[in-house]
Amino acid sequence: MNPDNDSIKPASAPCPLAAIASDDLFVHYTLDPARLGDRPMTERRLADLRGCFADGAAFEAALRRGNPLLYSVSPVEPASGDGQLHYGLGVLQPGKIGAEYFMTKGHLHAHRPAAEVYVGLAGEGAMLLEDEATGESRLVPLLAHSVVYVPGRTAHRTVNTGAAPLVYIGIYPSNAGHDYAPVAKNNFRHVVIERDGRPAPVPRAEIKNRRLAGSPV
Ligand code: F6R
Ligand code: ZN
Repeated sequence: MNPDNDSIKPASAPCPLAAIASDDLFVHYTLDPARLGDRPMTERRLADLRGCFADGAAFEAALRRGNPLLYSVSPVEPASGDGQLHYGLGVLQPGKIGAEYFMTKGHLHAHRPAAEVYVGLAGEGAMLLEDEATGESRLVPLLAHSVVYVPGRTAHRTVNTGAAPLVYIGIYPSNAGHDYAPVAKNNFRHVVIERDGRPAPVPRAEIKNRRLAGSPV
């Protein structure tokens, strides 16, 4: 043990540096087009978000017109194991279904304590955060030159509230994983819609009641 630097500890496993490919140690990103090196991008199209948008009729009508790309994600997974990080570039297109902005599916981390940091690179959007235990919600801006902290045990969904692609990087523990099931079953308690020209989080129950009353949003 070095008494002057207690951060230097005997490694419990071989240092993985030599095992990491150099193109995982350094990755260049571009914004136009938004890409992370030449990494493959996983695409999510409108049809992949069936059940996510509040206005089911507007969703089906949009799908009859086409199946546009909503977002793409390029993950980088240099190393896995205790303390290691993964990250991914996300590109979320602008648009709306009814009054609800284009958004990601949203998820909790399979390893619930895992937090995440989102770095906004371009565009205008927001993160919808929902505490799994209490249901408390926050809508936090996600903008270029800004960073959003997503605590562990918090469902998170990215929303594009602007007119251009929203580009961001999410950085998370390598063991975080994705758990989509709770959001697929219960969705978020709030819907992010354009109201009076501005993004507003509205309780889902309120939207349903308005539609039943014959005044769709
Ligand atoms: C990773 C993370 C992001 C999302 C991306 C797409 O933990 O939060 O990289 O995976 O924004 O959203 P989902 O995964 O909800 O479709
Ligand atoms: Zn996440």
